[in-house]
Amino acid sequence: MKFFLDTANIEEIREGVSMGIVDGVTTNPSLVAKEGRDLEEVAKEICDLVDGPVSLEVVSTQSQEIIDEARRLAKIHKNVVVKIPMIREGLKALHVVSQEGIRVNVTLVFSATQALLAAKNGASIVSPFVGRLDDISADGLDLISDILTIYDNYQFKTELLVASIRHPLHVLKAAKLGAHIATLPYKVLNQLVKHPLSDIGLQKFLADWERQKQLVHS
Ligand code: G3P
Repeated sequence: MKFFLDTANIEEIREGVSMGIVDGVTTNPSLVAKEGRDLEEVAKEICDLVDGPVSLEVVSTQSQEIIDEARRLAKIHKNVVVKIPMIREGLKALHVVSQEGIRVNVTLVFSATQALLAAKNGASIVSPFVGRLDDISADGLDLISDILTIYDNYQFKTELLVASIRHPLHVLKAAKLGAHIATLPYKVLNQLVKHPLSDIGLQKFLADWERQKQLVHS
C-alpha cells in the first residue's frame, strides 16, 4: 500500500518524509488555502521534498478552463498529478488531458459508478472520500470494496486512492481490501505509529536495564 500525506503543510511533509514512509502527497483547495501561500510556490517546495506523485487540484468548473488549468499545473513539475472533481465538465476535461499524457486524480468521488466513469475515461488515480460518507452514516469502506471489485473485473489500471481518512481503522480496512494508496492526514500518520503497549514495553526494558546497570556498578 502506498502512503501519501494529505496536506500542504511543508513541516508535516518534511517530518513524514524523514520517517521514510511517504510515497506522495495530495492537496486540495482547502488544504492549500489553510497554508495561506501561493499554490505554485508551495507545490514546488512539496515536489522538492517528495520523490513521488503530488496532487494539485484545479478550481475551474468549465471544461475548457479545467483543461487550460490542468496543463498549467502539470507544467509545474514532472511529479504533478492534476486533481479534477467528478463533475460532467470534469469528465470532459479528463477525456482530453488524459490523452495528452497528463496524469489525473479524479476527486470528490462518492459512488462506484463515478469511479467506473473515471477509470473508463483514463484517470490515473480515483479518490473516493470514505470519511465524508461515514460522516453521513454511509459505509465508506463498502465503496472501496465495490470499486476494487469493478476495477478487478475489467483490469482497469486506475489506482484507488482512499481519501478523507479519519482514523487508523480506515487505513487497516482499506489495506485488507487491497486499496493501492491511502492518503493520510498527518495526525493519522502519527496514530498509526503509536501503541500504548509499545511505550509501556520500552519503559520496562529501560527500567530493567538501568536497574541491572546499577547492580553491576555497585
Ligand atoms: O484531500 C482530499 C480528502 O482527503 C479530504 O478529505 O474529508 O478530510 O476534507 P476531508
